[in-house]
Amino acid sequence: LTGGAVAAGGALAGGAAIAVARPDDPRVRPAEPVPVAQVGSAVESFHGVRQSGVTTEPQAHAAFVAFTLKPGVDRAALGRMLRLLSDDAARLTRGRPALADTEPELGLLPARLTVTFGFGPGLYAAAGRADRRPPSVADLPAFRIDRLQPRWSGGDLLLQICADDPLTVAHAQRVLVKDSRPFATVRWVQQGFRRAAGAEPGRTQRNLFGQLDGTANPRPGTPADTAVWVTDGPNWLRDSTTLVVRRISMNLETWDLLGRTDREIAVGRRLDTGAPLTGTAEHDEPDFAALGPDGLTVIPDFSHLTRARVTDDRLKILRRPYNYDGVPTAEGHADSGLVFAAYQADIARQFLPIQRRLAERDLLNEWTTPIGSAVFAVPPGCPEGGWVGQQVLG
Ligand code: HEM
Repeated sequence: LTGGAVAAGGALAGGAAIAVARPDDPRVRPAEPVPVAQVGSAVESFHGVRQSGVTTEPQAHAAFVAFTLKPGVDRAALGRMLRLLSDDAARLTRGRPALADTEPELGLLPARLTVTFGFGPGLYAAAGRADRRPPSVADLPAFRIDRLQPRWSGGDLLLQICADDPLTVAHAQRVLVKDSRPFATVRWVQQGFRRAAGAEPGRTQRNLFGQLDGTANPRPGTPADTAVWVTDGPNWLRDSTTLVVRRISMNLETWDLLGRTDREIAVGRRLDTGAPLTGTAEHDEPDFAALGPDGLTVIPDFSHLTRARVTDDRLKILRRPYNYDGVPTAEGHADSGLVFAAYQADIARQFLPIQRRLAERDLLNEWTTPIGSAVFAVPPGCPEGGWVGQQVLG
């Protein structure tokens, strides 16, 4: 799961766990999985220079909660709200109930809980701090493939709540939403999941198309990792990042009609191993020039892999998606997809060129449809006793 997690008691978790990463492969981060018996008590630190929940090894469950600020909520009111929510997050992430927690027993198992705060364009406007909004944090341009619904789009404030236990996520969501009530209304909530903690430690997760999803992500500690964080500038910008949340529905009905070969061609990778069509192992470098017996490239130029490919480490994005699986229709048709979350230092420089290429041409578009879109700045973290946003609003 993560090298950064410690048990709620303070002891380092993972000491007795088996490292599953291949030590000869530098692209695979050596995993220090939390032993299953300690999943409930494992802690990710809330305080720090950078917010947690970004490069944190993704937890199994997530709730993305977006709020609309109430009219009249100004900088002073925002400060009160963010102090309160930061205090809730600081307590709950340690396995302590929130102040006046009405279900204190539910606050005792942090299960690597992280609460990541994102500021939408509207928050900067309400705070009278438009000058501190990172310029790329603005509504994305419309794409040809978009079928966006207001019920999954926009937001002044986002809380990305992640933990390895769904009850922990639900309780944190309840506390944070209750404490936001004087200041904001709930705009949308998107819940998602990945493999259960400990089910496949150190392995790339699968999405509901059955694909390995996350193979080519920058790994913490690699040069590409620096693409995620802003590393200089004034204190309200340094150590911040940005977040794009896209709700992308995946049409399992038409996907199920495809044969295995066609499915693999759509992405350019094999379903079983995740290897590129020109390789044998998941982390083999794809060979985009290799030709098949028919004289065509083995990895088609319209495959998702070809179109999404970024070779410059500074331009990569960190994908941290969660699967969603709603209630099927009466006819048994699935309501499935991805809560696609991408972190990058600059949306315009990194995310947009990739999204433009994919919108223009990507075979995967046949089976996927963006139905929600929102952008947020993720301000720097806060020290013990501080609150998220203090540099932006101060
Ligand atoms: C790679 C699935 C949407 C950007 C991949 C891979 C899969 C995949 C299976 C190959 C394995 C991996 O490296 O993770 C999907 C699905 C999507 C989706 C099912 C929608 C439901 C997007 C979007 C973006 C994106 C919206 C960005 C705008 C990327 C990037 C890569 C990638 C950058 C890595 C390419 C490389 O090898 O350098 N995706 N993806 N994907 N995807 Fe997506």
